[in-house]
Amino acid sequence: MSTTHTAIPVSPRIGRFSYAIRNIVVEAHRVEAAGMHVRYLNIGDPIQFGFQTPLHLIEAVEKALRDGHNGYGPSAGIQSAREAVAAEDTGKGWPISPDRVYITAGTSEGIELALTALLDEHGEVLVPMPTYPLYTAVIAKIGAHARYYRTDPDRQWVPDLDHLATLVTPQTKAIVIIDPNNPTGATYPTPVRKALLEFADRHGLVILADEVYADLGYDEAVPPIGSFDHDAPVISFSSLSKAYLAPGWRTGWLSIGRSPRLDDVATAIRKLADGRLCSTVPMQYAVTAALKGDKSHQVTFRAALKERATITGERLRAMPGVSCMTPRAGFYAMPRVALPPGKTDEDYVLGLLRATGVLCVYGSGFGLPATDGYLRIVFLASPSDLDEIYGLMARFTADFLS
Ligand SMILES: Cc1ncc(COP(=O)(O)O)c(C=O)c1O
Repeated sequence: MSTTHTAIPVSPRIGRFSYAIRNIVVEAHRVEAAGMHVRYLNIGDPIQFGFQTPLHLIEAVEKALRDGHNGYGPSAGIQSAREAVAAEDTGKGWPISPDRVYITAGTSEGIELALTALLDEHGEVLVPMPTYPLYTAVIAKIGAHARYYRTDPDRQWVPDLDHLATLVTPQTKAIVIIDPNNPTGATYPTPVRKALLEFADRHGLVILADEVYADLGYDEAVPPIGSFDHDAPVISFSSLSKAYLAPGWRTGWLSIGRSPRLDDVATAIRKLADGRLCSTVPMQYAVTAALKGDKSHQVTFRAALKERATITGERLRAMPGVSCMTPRAGFYAMPRVALPPGKTDEDYVLGLLRATGVLCVYGSGFGLPATDGYLRIVFLASPSDLDEIYGLMARFTADFLS
């Protein structure tokens, strides 16, 4: 029996790894244990709000299970799924061959594989501010460095190209572009996309394009950034999680552009993928069903999201001291509260949680300065629930700011 009682130390890299979207749940559980009803507006999971996975995807997985596809699969993914992703990209104007597609455990694993393949501890990556925090967490885990580029809330949260230009060093390897954006709900106008491609080309950077919300633009389809320059070194990530309503299946893909500059990266990603054997096999059978089958659920989903986005923008802007862009895609909004001096976004978010049970995520969890007063809201709840939620927020905000 051991006689020492000192805690086993963990790696220092854990101190650099942070994912606020889930961290904040610890406090929510405390509030819940004290008897308050908590509304979890922290995680972008449509299933928790009553949206349903399309039946034909469930049937495809069920059939795969019954047909005995329960062994390991190829590490790059089953061929039919790779072909379906390549056809989808190609159909959207970005010609991709199936051998440049890897099936992953969600967008998340694609991000991790690509960053691991690209970076050593000196490497730098340009990441939007605010960002989806997995990028900075994985970059920190690898021991590499994220450099935040500004996106401008006064110009619908588009990237600030002048600021970007000041951040490039000889160590800069890649730029992360999240379009449509989580957490801001922005989509970028075509001239901005082209300017980002030119910027990356001028500095020899790989473009890591997070396109997981591409099918959730309310008014127009958001094209892959690779469609504007087929030879640009683009790696794109997406999954079944958002537009196909199956986040728990952990099934996604990454597509690597045809630029020969990416050949070694493709080989490196494949090598890393070999090490984790394969992503969940039965779920991969839903990829073809999703991409080649009936997509009518997306029409209803987009309409539901647009209605909620409009309510969200209007109700938040009606609160004195609050500003908010109406989102154009996805299911997140990023309002700003004009904080009193000395207060942080975390003070506001924790205060809101403790007073009303409404759980959002503070903007500093996405890389913004804590005193700027931003927070992220997931607006997947029904319009009537949103009405109650924004009522609670309005009363709390008036108290908080008085
Ligand atoms: C921008 C962005 N990228 C990646 C992910 C991870 O998604 P997945 O479930 O496909 O791993 C999310 C999830 O919220 C996201 O918002």
